[in-house]
This record gives sequence, structure tokens and C-alpha cells, in this order.
Amino acid sequence: MEQLVQPAQQILIKNWKDGFTIPTSRLYPFQWNWDSGFTALGQGHFDLDFAIRELQSLFSAQWENGMIPHIVFHSENEKTYFPNYDFWDANVNIGAPDKPKTSGITQPAVHGFVLERLLEQFPDSEKLVAFAKELFPKIVKLHRWFYQYRDPEREGLTFIFHPWESGRDNSPLWDESMDRTVFNKEDLPNYQRRDTSIAHADERPTSYQYDRYVYLLQLGKKYKYDERGIFEESPFLIQDTLMNAVLIKSNDSLIQLGKRFGFDTAEIEEWQQQAKPKFAEKLWNEELETFTVYDLRANHAVSHKEIGGLSALYAEIPTSLQALKLNNYLQSLHQRGYYICPSFDVDSPLFDSKRYWRGPIWPQMNWMIHHGLKAYGFEDTAAIVKADLIELVSKLGFYEYFESQKDVAARLETGYGGGNFSWTAACTLDLVRDC
Ligand code: GLC
Repeated sequence: MEQLVQPAQQILIKNWKDGFTIPTSRLYPFQWNWDSGFTALGQGHFDLDFAIRELQSLFSAQWENGMIPHIVFHSENEKTYFPNYDFWDANVNIGAPDKPKTSGITQPAVHGFVLERLLEQFPDSEKLVAFAKELFPKIVKLHRWFYQYRDPEREGLTFIFHPWESGRDNSPLWDESMDRTVFNKEDLPNYQRRDTSIAHADERPTSYQYDRYVYLLQLGKKYKYDERGIFEESPFLIQDTLMNAVLIKSNDSLIQLGKRFGFDTAEIEEWQQQAKPKFAEKLWNEELETFTVYDLRANHAVSHKEIGGLSALYAEIPTSLQALKLNNYLQSLHQRGYYICPSFDVDSPLFDSKRYWRGPIWPQMNWMIHHGLKAYGFEDTAAIVKADLIELVSKLGFYEYFESQKDVAARLETGYGGGNFSWTAACTLDLVRDC
């Protein structure tokens, strides 16, 4: 395992662009929101300054309403990415910063737990403590935005209106909502994808999906990225497991940090008291024995087993019986010859072990689920989740994501998507150092 440390560090150093880190060159040439959080966890192990600056530059893009955008376009000259800042046109919202330019949607709120973990690992760094006190109110402001703007019915569960917000862009979870997203092709602006000229088309979302991503982006822009209109009109309106689990986990972290610093945590505790039980009650799917996302537009649960349901472990939402069921599910996949944790139900006809979020293994998900399993005392499964990722990275390189079927992976020489990937390097580094 130790032999992975040097190359992981080198990747993080190479992807550092003097103030922030790109996920990978060419495919993703800017700063991505939740990528940055995981990246900071890796950076902490060799240069805490990098980690602090990474989070600082992400939060320099915070909107006045509190939102942290999913992409920060620190450079306006880099023209190789679609949709670029000009296509997003985020400044239609008066609270979006003029500089740096940003996208108009968000991503999972990992920052609270990232900050808590950095402080656990480096408790004696005065610089980190000072930075944490400065970042704390900004993270609270982000969470407040989630609960004010993305939970209009005050349920304790926040919604997303674009698959990219979930972090799991083309998961089959969204297929039904995407089919419901109908429009005249002539009404869609002309656009040219860049991703398929860099990565293999059969690993990427299809053009049917991409048209709908662009349509939903346009819908956000039409309403100046203001939630009210979007909530009324969007055909895609989902209470997502991963988004809410990550937010709940970060709420917990903020409560811990706030207590340590002597800050008032009453507001966060109030969110948490509503959010945790609501998640457990509304999103548990007894038939599938996992948590599932809820489609607010169609008013029903989206009944698929997938990786977001497992993320609840990390937020310690499941009862011990529910956690046992999730653990048994992972053990059975392990027995059946899969690396764990595949991003989608391997028994579904929609499973595709190669295509992005429709089946492969994702490093940052393994990182969260590893820690979630440990919190419940499932040490054996936690060790497998870690060992599987380490094995994949050792054999196939620091790729964006990986084949989940062991017999297929055995015939491969690389992982999938972008190479020299930041969160893969960072999560590997953190897991190796955590022994
Ligand atoms: C893809 C992933 C998303 C990630 C981004 C940058 O869009 O689905 O989760 O943040 O790439 O790595």
C-alpha cells in the first residue's frame, strides 16, 4: 500500500493550479465542488496549506444566497469545456459573483465533514483551527441555503433539479425524470459536447441524456437560478439520498465543531432534528432493504438499489437492523465476485459496469461507505471496501472510476474515464494513511 503514497501525492501536486485543484486535466479543467472537499483530505497529508487554500478558493465562489456552485471557472480563457461559464450565464442571478465565474447549480455538501476530519487529523495546527473558525459560518450559510431554498415545504429533505447536482450524473435513477423531460429539439440551443472527444463515448452519458442536461440548465437560467420558479416547473425534482445524507453528516460535523469553538449551534441542531428522522422514515424502502430517492414531481419513491442508499451509513441514519441489511447486501456482492461498492444494482437490466454512474466503482463513494461501515462496527466489510479500492488503483491506475466485475477487471489494463484523477489519489492517500 505504501507504494501508492508517492504517486498519489504527485498527482495532487500536478493537478494543483496555484490555488485550486482540477479533478483531471483535459476532461475537467476547472474546480469542482465536492471533488475539492475530497482533494483537501488528501492534500492534508503532505501540505496542509494546499488543503486550506483549496477550500478557500472554493468558498470564494459562494453566492450571496449561500450556494456553493458545482463548478468554479477560475480561468475564463480555458475554452475546452462544455458547458463553460458563458453558457451557464450565472450572473443572471444578482447574487452570483462576477469573479470567479461559476455554474448555476450545486453538489453534495461535503465541506462540514471534510473540515472536521482535517481537524481530527491535525489537531495541533493553529493555522487550521483559525481557518476552521473562518470557514464555519460560510458552511452554515450553505446549509441554511439548502434548507431555505431547496426545501420549500419544510420537510427536512432538500431537492435537486439537475442530475449533475447529485454527483451521479447519468445514474439510471434519473431515467424516468429524463423521459418526462420533453421539448422541441429546435428549442434547444446549439451546443457541442467536449467530453466524448476526450473520453470513450461508451463510458459517458448518451446524447439523449445530454440534451436533457442542457434543457434543465436552460430552465434554471430562465428562472435566474431562483428556486421558486424551478420548483414549480422542473420535470426533474428529486429528494436525493446522497445529497441529503452528506448534508446530514456535515450538520453533525458542524455541531461538533461549533461546540468545540463555543459557537451557537441551535439552528443546526434544529435542522438535524427534523432531517435525520425524516430521511429514515421517508426514504427507507422496506421491499428493497435500502434507502431510495424520492421523485417529488411524480410523488413516488424511485425503486432502485444503488450507491446513494448506502451513503446513509456514513451519516449514521440507519437503525442497527437497517445497517445490518445494507451490510449483508455488500457482503453478498463480495461473495458473488464483484468489487464493492458498485454504483448501481448489478441485478437490474439497467446495470452497465462500464458506463459512468450506471454500475462502476467510484473512489470517493468507497471512502464514505468505508467510514460508514466502521461507524456501525462492520469492520470486515469496511476492510473489503478499502482493500477493493486499493487493489483497483494498484492494478489499473488512479482513474476516475473502475470496472466492478472482478472477472472483467482482470482482463483490463486501465480504469475508466479520466486518468491521474484527484479524488482517486486523495481518497487512496487518506485510506492508506488511516491504518
Ligand atoms: C462528473 C461526476 C461528478 C464530478 C465531476 C468532476 O461530472 O459525475 O460527480 O464531480 O465529474 O470530477
